Amino acid sequence: MTPDSKTVISVLDDDSILSSKNKTNNVNNPELTKRGLILLGTFGGLFAGIYAVATPFVSPALRRICLPFVPATPLQIQNVFTALTKQTGSLIDIGSGDGRIVLDAARRGFKSSGVELNYWLVLYSRYTAWKNGLSSQVSFFRKDLWKTSLSQYDNVIIFGVEQMMPKLEEKLDKELVDGRHVVACRFPFPTWQPEKTIGTGVDTVWLYIKGREKLDKDNHNNPV
Ligand SMILES: C[S@@+](CC[C@H](N)C(=O)[O-])C[C@H]1O[C@@H](n2cnc3c(N)ncnc32)[C@H](O)[C@@H]1O
Repeated sequence: MTPDSKTVISVLDDDSILSSKNKTNNVNNPELTKRGLILLGTFGGLFAGIYAVATPFVSPALRRICLPFVPATPLQIQNVFTALTKQTGSLIDIGSGDGRIVLDAARRGFKSSGVELNYWLVLYSRYTAWKNGLSSQVSFFRKDLWKTSLSQYDNVIIFGVEQMMPKLEEKLDKELVDGRHVVACRFPFPTWQPEKTIGTGVDTVWLYIKGREKLDKDNHNNPV
């Protein structure tokens, strides 16, 4: 062995002794372990928080019928209530989002409700109702619209997606009493004939009266 190679071996030995000493020190150093735990806790908590907030917004997109949160525009809301001029009683917005239609309906005297799958949006809607002094006129339910009976409502509003309209038409046909008013935003029903079409483009709304043809026939056969 040359003197040079002896030096290299001794340097390597010193390094490996040093690094093994450091490793031992890291494990036994309570300050470093504490810092590691704090980092782990912070990132773990951050990740859990992002997951908890984001999941309710992402999960509607993963369902068979994807119905994401897209809030109604002010013009769309104005068209909804133009369609419901002279109507009173109870109203439900199915898939109520941040509650803007339900709250506007309450301001106009409807006893209004919303069903919404996203828990955060339900909480936010309740908070906005409370902040605006409307809590006693509104109800927000964290519920699946497909599992909610609509039979008790005088007026139903839906801002949905095209794929859901045939199935929703069937549901409303089964559940709603004749003469009830239904307003569809952005996408019309496939076979029902609208009473009125209000607005243009993405803000268009269609007003339907459930069982209109039957009501007309009954009136024709039994004139008052
Ligand atoms: C297009 S947004 C309409 C929001 C609100 N109606 C508006 O006009 O501002 C549809 C809403 O339906 C909700 N949603 C999706 N699937 C649902 C389901 N199965 N039951 C209840 N709500 C649902 C979404 O989370 C979203 O907030």
